[in-house]
Amino acid sequence: MAKVVVTRPLPEAGLIDLQAAHTVEIYDPVLQGEIDEDRLIALVRGADALIPTVGDPVSERVLAASSHLHIVAQFGVGVDNIDLDAARAHDIIVTNTPDVLTDATADFAFALLLAAARHLRQAEQVVRDGAFQRWETRLLMGMELRNKVLGIVGLGRIGRAMARRGLGFGMKVLYHNRQRTNPTVEREYGARYTSFDDLLARSDVLSLHCALNADTYHLLDASALARMKASALLVNTARGAVVDEEALVRALEAGHLAGAGLDVFEHEPRVHPGLLAHPRVVLAPHLGSATVEARTGMARMASEAVLAALNGGTVPYRVV
Ligand code: 8YV
Repeated sequence: MAKVVVTRPLPEAGLIDLQAAHTVEIYDPVLQGEIDEDRLIALVRGADALIPTVGDPVSERVLAASSHLHIVAQFGVGVDNIDLDAARAHDIIVTNTPDVLTDATADFAFALLLAAARHLRQAEQVVRDGAFQRWETRLLMGMELRNKVLGIVGLGRIGRAMARRGLGFGMKVLYHNRQRTNPTVEREYGARYTSFDDLLARSDVLSLHCALNADTYHLLDASALARMKASALLVNTARGAVVDEEALVRALEAGHLAGAGLDVFEHEPRVHPGLLAHPRVVLAPHLGSATVEARTGMARMASEAVLAALNGGTVPYRVV
Protein backbone atom coordinates (compact mmCIF):
# COMPACT_ATOMS: atom_id res chain seq x y z
CA MET A 1 0.00 0.00 0.00
CA ALA A 2 1.25 3.43 -0.88
CA LYS A 3 0.97 6.50 1.34
CA VAL A 4 -1.24 9.32 0.08
CA VAL A 5 -1.33 12.65 1.92
CA VAL A 6 -4.41 14.87 1.54
CA THR A 7 -4.04 18.39 2.96
CA ARG A 8 -7.75 18.99 3.74
CA PRO A 9 -10.79 16.86 4.55
CA LEU A 10 -12.35 16.40 1.08
CA PRO A 11 -15.86 15.13 0.25
CA GLU A 12 -15.64 11.51 1.35
CA ALA A 13 -17.62 10.10 -1.57
CA GLY A 14 -14.72 11.13 -3.82
CA LEU A 15 -12.08 9.31 -1.80
CA ILE A 16 -13.65 5.85 -1.38
CA ASP A 17 -11.70 4.05 -4.13
CA LEU A 18 -8.43 5.63 -3.04
CA GLN A 19 -8.96 4.66 0.59
CA ALA A 20 -9.77 1.09 -0.43
CA ALA A 21 -6.44 0.77 -2.23
CA HIS A 22 -3.95 2.85 -0.21
CA THR A 23 -3.17 4.42 3.14
CA VAL A 24 -4.73 7.86 2.94
CA GLU A 25 -3.68 10.40 5.59
CA ILE A 26 -6.06 13.34 5.74
CA TYR A 27 -4.75 16.48 7.39
CA ASP A 28 -7.18 18.90 8.99
CA PRO A 29 -5.86 22.47 9.41
CA VAL A 30 -8.72 23.32 11.77
CA LEU A 31 -7.58 20.66 14.25
CA GLN A 32 -3.89 20.43 13.40
CA GLY A 33 -2.85 23.96 12.45
CA GLU A 34 -2.54 25.96 9.22
CA ILE A 35 -0.34 24.61 6.47
CA ASP A 36 2.90 26.38 5.62
CA GLU A 37 5.93 25.16 3.72
CA ASP A 38 7.59 23.50 6.73
CA ARG A 39 4.42 21.71 7.76
CA LEU A 40 3.91 20.52 4.21
CA ILE A 41 7.48 19.20 4.13
CA ALA A 42 6.83 17.25 7.34
CA LEU A 43 3.55 15.89 5.93
CA VAL A 44 5.03 14.82 2.61
CA ARG A 45 7.93 12.85 4.12
CA GLY A 46 7.56 9.23 3.09
CA ALA A 47 4.55 9.96 0.86
CA ASP A 48 4.03 8.52 -2.61
CA ALA A 49 1.27 10.96 -3.54
CA LEU A 50 0.10 14.37 -2.38
CA ILE A 51 -3.34 15.92 -2.87
CA PRO A 52 -2.89 19.61 -2.04
CA THR A 53 -5.19 22.53 -2.62
CA VAL A 54 -5.21 26.26 -3.24
CA GLY A 55 -2.70 28.15 -1.11
CA ASP A 56 -0.64 25.08 -0.12
CA PRO A 57 2.91 26.09 -1.09
CA VAL A 58 4.11 23.05 -3.04
CA SER A 59 7.62 24.39 -3.50
CA GLU A 60 10.82 22.74 -4.68
CA ARG A 61 11.64 21.97 -1.00
CA VAL A 62 8.28 20.23 -0.56
CA LEU A 63 8.70 18.26 -3.78
CA ALA A 64 12.16 17.15 -2.68
CA ALA A 65 10.97 16.11 0.80
CA SER A 66 9.98 12.58 -0.19
CA SER A 67 12.33 10.50 -2.31
CA HIS A 68 9.38 8.55 -3.70
CA LEU A 69 6.81 11.27 -4.26
CA HIS A 70 5.33 10.27 -7.60
CA ILE A 71 2.35 12.54 -8.12
CA VAL A 72 0.89 15.83 -6.90
CA ALA A 73 -2.83 15.78 -7.72
CA GLN A 74 -4.11 19.31 -7.12
CA PHE A 75 -7.66 19.57 -5.76
CA GLY A 76 -8.59 22.49 -8.01
CA VAL A 77 -7.98 23.69 -11.53
CA GLY A 78 -5.45 26.44 -10.75
CA VAL A 79 -1.94 25.15 -10.06
CA ASP A 80 -0.20 28.45 -9.27
CA ASN A 81 0.69 27.15 -5.78
CA ILE A 82 2.85 24.38 -7.28
CA ASP A 83 6.40 24.85 -8.58
CA LEU A 84 5.82 23.15 -11.94
CA ASP A 85 9.45 23.49 -13.09
CA ALA A 86 10.64 21.76 -9.93
CA ALA A 87 8.05 19.01 -10.47
CA ARG A 88 9.42 18.47 -13.98
CA ALA A 89 12.98 18.44 -12.65
CA HIS A 90 12.06 15.83 -9.99
CA ASP A 91 10.03 13.80 -12.48
CA ILE A 92 6.86 14.23 -10.43
CA ILE A 93 3.48 14.14 -12.19
CA VAL A 94 1.11 17.07 -11.58
CA THR A 95 -2.62 16.87 -12.31
CA ASN A 96 -5.59 19.19 -11.72
CA THR A 97 -9.41 19.03 -11.82
CA PRO A 98 -10.74 20.97 -14.83
CA ASP A 99 -14.31 20.97 -16.27
CA VAL A 100 -16.12 19.62 -13.23
CA LEU A 101 -16.01 23.04 -11.53
CA THR A 102 -16.62 25.19 -14.60
CA ASP A 103 -20.35 25.79 -14.14
CA ALA A 104 -20.10 26.18 -10.37
CA THR A 105 -17.43 28.85 -10.74
CA ALA A 106 -19.22 30.71 -13.56
CA ASP A 107 -22.47 30.61 -11.54
CA PHE A 108 -20.65 32.16 -8.61
CA ALA A 109 -18.99 34.82 -10.77
CA PHE A 110 -22.42 35.73 -12.11
CA ALA A 111 -23.84 35.79 -8.60
CA LEU A 112 -21.14 38.29 -7.62
CA LEU A 113 -21.84 40.28 -10.79
CA LEU A 114 -25.55 40.53 -10.00
CA ALA A 115 -24.90 41.24 -6.33
CA ALA A 116 -22.55 44.09 -7.20
CA ALA A 117 -24.79 45.46 -9.97
CA ARG A 118 -27.86 45.53 -7.69
CA HIS A 119 -26.16 46.48 -4.40
CA LEU A 120 -27.27 43.27 -2.72
CA ARG A 121 -24.89 43.67 0.20
CA GLN A 122 -26.22 47.12 1.10
CA ALA A 123 -29.80 46.01 0.44
CA GLU A 124 -29.44 43.19 2.97
CA GLN A 125 -27.95 45.62 5.45
CA VAL A 126 -30.88 48.03 5.14
CA VAL A 127 -33.34 45.27 6.03
CA ARG A 128 -31.22 43.75 8.81
CA ASP A 129 -30.59 47.17 10.37
CA GLY A 130 -34.34 47.78 10.56
CA ALA A 131 -33.91 50.72 8.17
CA PHE A 132 -36.61 49.50 5.74
CA GLN A 133 -39.29 51.93 6.91
CA ARG A 134 -41.04 52.64 3.63
CA TRP A 135 -40.72 51.80 -0.06
CA GLU A 136 -38.53 54.42 -1.73
CA THR A 137 -38.26 55.33 -5.38
CA ARG A 138 -34.54 55.97 -5.46
CA LEU A 139 -33.18 53.54 -2.90
CA LEU A 140 -30.08 51.64 -4.06
CA MET A 141 -30.71 51.95 -7.79
CA GLY A 142 -28.38 49.65 -9.65
CA MET A 143 -27.19 48.87 -13.13
CA GLU A 144 -29.28 46.89 -15.62
CA LEU A 145 -27.35 44.22 -17.51
CA ARG A 146 -29.14 44.20 -20.88
CA ASN A 147 -26.96 45.79 -23.58
CA LYS A 148 -24.08 46.35 -21.19
CA VAL A 149 -20.62 45.11 -22.13
CA LEU A 150 -19.31 42.08 -20.28
CA GLY A 151 -15.53 42.02 -20.69
CA ILE A 152 -13.93 38.66 -20.12
CA VAL A 153 -10.23 38.27 -19.44
CA GLY A 154 -9.40 34.69 -20.39
CA LEU A 155 -11.91 32.89 -22.61
CA GLY A 156 -11.02 29.43 -21.33
CA ARG A 157 -13.52 26.96 -19.93
CA ILE A 158 -14.80 29.19 -17.12
CA GLY A 159 -14.60 32.37 -19.24
CA ARG A 160 -16.78 30.70 -21.88
CA ALA A 161 -19.32 29.58 -19.28
CA MET A 162 -19.40 33.18 -18.06
CA ALA A 163 -19.89 34.44 -21.63
CA ARG A 164 -22.88 32.13 -22.02
CA ARG A 165 -24.43 33.52 -18.85
CA GLY A 166 -23.78 37.10 -20.00
CA LEU A 167 -25.50 36.41 -23.33
CA GLY A 168 -28.46 34.97 -21.46
CA PHE A 169 -28.84 38.30 -19.68
CA GLY A 170 -28.66 40.24 -22.95
CA MET A 171 -25.11 41.48 -22.44
CA LYS A 172 -22.61 42.11 -25.23
CA VAL A 173 -19.59 39.93 -24.68
CA LEU A 174 -16.04 41.03 -25.46
CA TYR A 175 -12.95 39.09 -24.48
CA HIS A 176 -9.21 39.25 -24.42
CA ASN A 177 -6.88 36.27 -24.41
CA ARG A 178 -3.17 35.90 -24.90
CA GLN A 179 -4.11 34.21 -28.15
CA ARG A 180 -7.31 34.81 -30.05
CA THR A 181 -9.67 31.83 -29.86
CA ASN A 182 -10.89 30.27 -33.10
CA PRO A 183 -13.93 31.83 -34.86
CA THR A 184 -16.17 28.80 -34.21
CA VAL A 185 -15.76 29.20 -30.45
CA GLU A 186 -16.26 32.98 -30.75
CA ARG A 187 -19.53 32.39 -32.61
CA GLU A 188 -20.70 29.68 -30.22
CA TYR A 189 -20.21 31.91 -27.19
CA GLY A 190 -21.11 35.18 -28.91
CA ALA A 191 -17.79 36.63 -27.79
CA ARG A 192 -15.84 39.26 -29.77
CA TYR A 193 -12.08 39.47 -29.45
CA THR A 194 -10.45 42.76 -28.65
CA SER A 195 -7.19 44.19 -27.29
CA PHE A 196 -6.68 44.37 -23.53
CA ASP A 197 -6.78 48.19 -23.69
CA ASP A 198 -10.04 48.22 -25.62
CA LEU A 199 -11.53 45.66 -23.23
CA LEU A 200 -10.65 47.90 -20.28
CA ALA A 201 -12.12 50.96 -21.97
CA ARG A 202 -15.40 49.37 -23.07
CA SER A 203 -16.37 46.95 -20.31
CA ASP A 204 -19.25 47.80 -18.00
CA VAL A 205 -18.38 44.64 -16.10
CA LEU A 206 -14.89 43.17 -16.28
CA SER A 207 -14.70 39.55 -15.16
CA LEU A 208 -11.38 37.78 -14.65
CA HIS A 209 -11.00 34.13 -15.72
CA CYS A 210 -7.29 33.77 -16.45
CA ALA A 211 -4.70 31.67 -14.64
CA LEU A 212 -2.22 33.39 -12.34
CA ASN A 213 1.29 33.33 -13.75
CA ALA A 214 4.18 35.72 -14.40
CA ASP A 215 2.24 37.34 -17.27
CA THR A 216 -0.99 37.89 -15.37
CA TYR A 217 0.42 38.90 -11.96
CA HIS A 218 -1.01 42.41 -11.29
CA LEU A 219 -2.48 42.50 -14.80
CA LEU A 220 -4.98 44.92 -13.30
CA ASP A 221 -2.59 47.42 -11.80
CA ALA A 222 -3.22 51.12 -11.10
CA SER A 223 -2.75 52.04 -14.75
CA ALA A 224 -5.12 49.34 -16.04
CA LEU A 225 -7.76 50.24 -13.46
CA ALA A 226 -7.48 53.90 -14.45
CA ARG A 227 -8.29 52.93 -18.05
CA MET A 228 -11.60 51.32 -16.99
CA LYS A 229 -14.89 53.22 -16.96
CA ALA A 230 -15.53 54.91 -13.60
CA SER A 231 -18.96 53.26 -13.70
CA ALA A 232 -17.56 49.75 -14.25
CA LEU A 233 -17.72 46.74 -11.95
CA LEU A 234 -14.88 44.28 -11.45
CA VAL A 235 -15.55 40.59 -10.78
CA ASN A 236 -12.72 38.29 -9.72
CA THR A 237 -13.15 34.56 -9.25
CA ALA A 238 -9.70 33.73 -10.70
CA ARG A 239 -6.79 34.54 -8.39
CA GLY A 240 -6.39 37.56 -6.14
CA ALA A 241 -2.92 38.48 -7.35
CA VAL A 242 -4.17 39.11 -10.91
CA VAL A 243 -5.28 42.41 -9.37
CA ASP A 244 -3.05 44.86 -7.49
CA GLU A 245 -5.32 44.95 -4.45
CA GLU A 246 -3.82 48.15 -3.07
CA ALA A 247 -4.48 49.89 -6.41
CA LEU A 248 -8.03 48.48 -6.49
CA VAL A 249 -8.78 49.92 -3.06
CA ARG A 250 -7.44 53.31 -4.15
CA ALA A 251 -9.55 53.23 -7.34
CA LEU A 252 -12.70 52.30 -5.40
CA GLU A 253 -12.07 54.96 -2.78
CA ALA A 254 -11.55 57.57 -5.49
CA GLY A 255 -14.90 56.59 -7.04
CA HIS A 256 -13.13 55.31 -10.13
CA LEU A 257 -14.92 51.93 -10.37
CA ALA A 258 -18.48 51.57 -9.17
CA GLY A 259 -17.96 48.34 -7.27
CA ALA A 260 -16.47 44.89 -7.19
CA GLY A 261 -17.44 41.28 -6.56
CA LEU A 262 -14.47 39.39 -5.18
CA ASP A 263 -14.11 35.71 -4.36
CA VAL A 264 -10.30 35.70 -4.27
CA PHE A 265 -7.72 37.94 -2.64
CA GLU A 266 -4.10 38.82 -3.15
CA HIS A 267 -3.02 37.63 0.31
CA GLU A 268 -5.69 35.04 0.98
CA PRO A 269 -7.15 34.44 3.54
CA ARG A 270 -6.23 38.02 4.54
CA VAL A 271 -8.49 40.63 2.98
CA HIS A 272 -7.41 44.25 2.50
CA PRO A 273 -9.17 46.42 5.13
CA GLY A 274 -10.10 48.87 2.37
CA LEU A 275 -12.15 46.16 0.68
CA LEU A 276 -13.81 45.16 3.94
CA ALA A 277 -14.79 48.77 4.55
CA HIS A 278 -16.12 49.63 1.09
CA PRO A 279 -19.93 49.53 0.79
CA ARG A 280 -19.92 48.66 -2.92
CA VAL A 281 -17.70 45.60 -2.63
CA VAL A 282 -19.25 42.13 -2.33
CA LEU A 283 -16.91 39.59 -0.77
CA ALA A 284 -16.78 35.79 -0.55
CA PRO A 285 -14.25 33.35 0.97
CA HIS A 286 -13.10 31.63 -2.26
CA LEU A 287 -16.34 29.76 -2.92
CA GLY A 288 -16.24 29.52 -6.72
CA SER A 289 -16.25 25.73 -6.87
CA ALA A 290 -18.15 25.25 -3.62
CA THR A 291 -21.04 23.09 -4.76
CA VAL A 292 -21.55 19.50 -3.62
CA GLU A 293 -21.39 18.37 -7.24
CA ALA A 294 -18.16 20.19 -8.11
CA ARG A 295 -16.27 19.44 -4.92
CA THR A 296 -17.21 15.74 -5.00
CA GLY A 297 -16.19 15.56 -8.64
CA MET A 298 -12.89 17.28 -7.87
CA ALA A 299 -12.12 14.74 -5.14
CA ARG A 300 -12.96 11.89 -7.54
CA MET A 301 -10.68 13.29 -10.23
CA ALA A 302 -7.74 13.77 -7.86
CA SER A 303 -8.26 10.21 -6.54
CA GLU A 304 -8.50 8.83 -10.06
CA ALA A 305 -5.23 10.51 -11.05
CA VAL A 306 -3.43 9.24 -7.93
CA LEU A 307 -4.72 5.69 -8.43
CA ALA A 308 -3.58 5.68 -12.05
CA ALA A 309 -0.16 7.06 -11.15
CA LEU A 310 0.39 4.57 -8.35
CA ASN A 311 -0.79 1.68 -10.54
CA GLY A 312 1.60 2.70 -13.30
CA GLY A 313 -1.28 3.40 -15.71
CA THR A 314 -1.96 6.37 -17.98
CA VAL A 315 -2.58 9.34 -15.72
CA PRO A 316 -5.56 11.57 -16.61
CA TYR A 317 -5.78 15.36 -16.10
CA ARG A 318 -2.02 15.88 -16.39
CA VAL A 319 -0.53 19.34 -16.22
CA VAL A 320 3.04 18.04 -15.93
C1 8YV B 1 -11.02 25.70 -5.41
C2 8YV B 1 -10.08 27.06 -7.32
O1 8YV B 1 -11.92 26.08 -4.44
O2 8YV B 1 -10.04 25.22 -8.75
C3 8YV B 1 -9.48 26.24 -8.40
O3 8YV B 1 -8.43 26.64 -8.91
O4 8YV B 1 -9.64 28.12 -7.04
C4 8YV B 1 -11.27 26.55 -6.58
O5 8YV B 1 -12.02 25.76 -7.39
C5 8YV B 1 -9.71 25.63 -4.84
O6 8YV B 1 -8.70 25.67 -5.75
C6 8YV B 1 -9.58 24.39 -4.02
O7 8YV B 1 -8.34 23.84 -4.25
